[in-house]
Amino acid sequence: MSAQRAEAPLGVFDSGIGGLTVVQAIAELLPDERIVYLGDTARVPYGNKSPETVARFARQDAAFLLGRGVKAVVVACNTATAFALPALEAALEVPVIGVLEPGVEAALGRTRNGRIGLIGTAGTIGSEAYQRAIAARRPGAHIVPRATPLLVPLVEEGWLEHPVTRQVLAEYLGPMLREDIDTLVLACTHYPLLKPALREVAGEGVALVDSATTCAAHVAGRLGALGLAAPPGGGCGIDIYLTDRPAQFERVARRFLTAPIKGIEVVALPE
Ligand code: DGL
Repeated sequence: MSAQRAEAPLGVFDSGIGGLTVVQAIAELLPDERIVYLGDTARVPYGNKSPETVARFARQDAAFLLGRGVKAVVVACNTATAFALPALEAALEVPVIGVLEPGVEAALGRTRNGRIGLIGTAGTIGSEAYQRAIAARRPGAHIVPRATPLLVPLVEEGWLEHPVTRQVLAEYLGPMLREDIDTLVLACTHYPLLKPALREVAGEGVALVDSATTCAAHVAGRLGALGLAAPPGGGCGIDIYLTDRPAQFERVARRFLTAPIKGIEVVALPE
């Protein structure tokens, strides 16, 4: 792999704003990487859409990033990873990294009793992609999945520690806590922001596995192994592309991302 490729930016996409949790984790771990982020804010959410539609959107998102000359594509969106990762891996000529595998590996590394809770959008949970990946690696694992669609709006509203949010979490997690899970996979871009509330509701005995930090560690390993890690001094802020500029974008985005933003531009995606 040429040094020139290593200097190319790293592409990251998500259905909207939430993938900035993954960008933040990558920027912290790999400060020399130039990151180009696409948030499909015109078509968010992906979590309640059909597999075919999410797969089509994901192809268009990836094509946009390739047009910006990225050296690898990180699929920050759990729903897009669940529905489209194998197809993207087959279609793209650059490495494609999703959030599922790092999260699953981390969960299996953390669990002691093999009882794993899983929360995500209706799409992610309904796809059974996480359940299949866990079962393939640990056939005896007891997986307790739950679609938790109310959590994304609560996070975007900024109700991270609001009593209503705690009540919703208690409702969602109650059944899986009664099944004695010792690990909970946060299979959604937004959920890392709920960690303090989740910790309170789930208790200290449950390990929280978030897809942002586990994915960032995986990105570091893959880029290093492929000779694609950026040379020192390359990173200088995140280029953000959006398919729509929602009101209050910056205010909400700042909850997810504290790394410097280089620019924000609204773009049309290739069909
Ligand atoms: N980014 C999505 C995910 O991680 C959550 C928001 C949405 O439904 O689009 O699954």
